[in-house]
Formats: sequence, C-alpha cells, structure tokens
Amino acid sequence: MERTLVLCKPDAVQRGLVGQILTRFEQKGLKLVGMKLRQFPKELLEQHYSDHKERPFFPSLVGFMGSGPVVAMALEGIDAIAVVRGLMGKTNAREAAPGTIRGDLGMSFSNNLVHGSDSAESAAKELALFFPGADELVDWTPC
Ligand code: CMP
Repeated sequence: MERTLVLCKPDAVQRGLVGQILTRFEQKGLKLVGMKLRQFPKELLEQHYSDHKERPFFPSLVGFMGSGPVVAMALEGIDAIAVVRGLMGKTNAREAAPGTIRGDLGMSFSNNLVHGSDSAESAAKELALFFPGADELVDWTPC
C-alpha cells in the first residue's frame, strides 16, 4: 500500500474542477486520507519544487503555485503513485492523452491542473511538507 500527494493547482481551483478531479481518483478506487485548501507560502513551494530550482521556469512555477489557493490531498492505494500519475497524464497538457485529467481538461504545460508525487521518496517528503501534523492523515477503513 502506498500514499501519494496530489495538488489541485490554482488553475484547477479557479476553474471549479476540484470536485471532478477528486471524483476521478475516488472512482478509480484510491482512498482519500487527507485534504486541505490553502494559499501556501512561497518558502514551502520553493521547498516542494526544490528539484527544479535551477530550471528557468522555477520562479514562474513558484509564483503560479502561490498565486491562489491550492487543494492538497493525500491518496492511498496499491501502487498509488503510479496510478495517480497515469490518471493525470503527461506534464504538458496539450500532449496528454484523452481520458487523463490533463488530456481532458487542460491546454497548458505550466498551468497543468494537478501535481502528483513522482516516486516513493518524493511522496514521503511531499506528504510531510503539506501534512506536517501528526493527526492530518487519517487511517480509516470502511464500516
Ligand atoms: P508538476 O507535475 O507540478 O511538476 C513540476 C512542474 O513544473 C510541472 O508540473 C509543470 O507545472 C512545470 N513545468 C515542468 N516543465 C516545464 C516547462 N518546460 N515549462 C514550464 N513549466 C514546466
């Protein structure tokens, strides 16, 4: 069983797509174990995207992610990291396959609606960053 971080980026929140995006993950069978809406501080976003800090798009990426509220979710399931990335589609939404979140709902490379952790190591780091409290992720089983 794995847990992964998903961010619904400011474009998804502003376009009213959070419900649709969450529904896709839930319908697939992933379990929601944490969720919050916040306008996250620049320092946290810089840390989150620290692997990209030398890339030319880093300042605009951090600026965009801090420009409005983001919905952070923790999702759980077998192979959750790969399953989420499959559902999201390619980073460049114009190239993402139909049927994926980005492929169906987006046209942008940078404002691409969602982020999902890309490895077990990233998931652990990102979940700790966005859900630092001991009680923020909920272990639950169906009644
Ligand atoms: P995400 O999955 O959040 O991970 C890093 C983000 O950087 C990516 O989605 C895009 O939003 C952004 N990104 C990656 N490559 C580029 C690029 N070449 N130009 C602009 N933004 C990019």
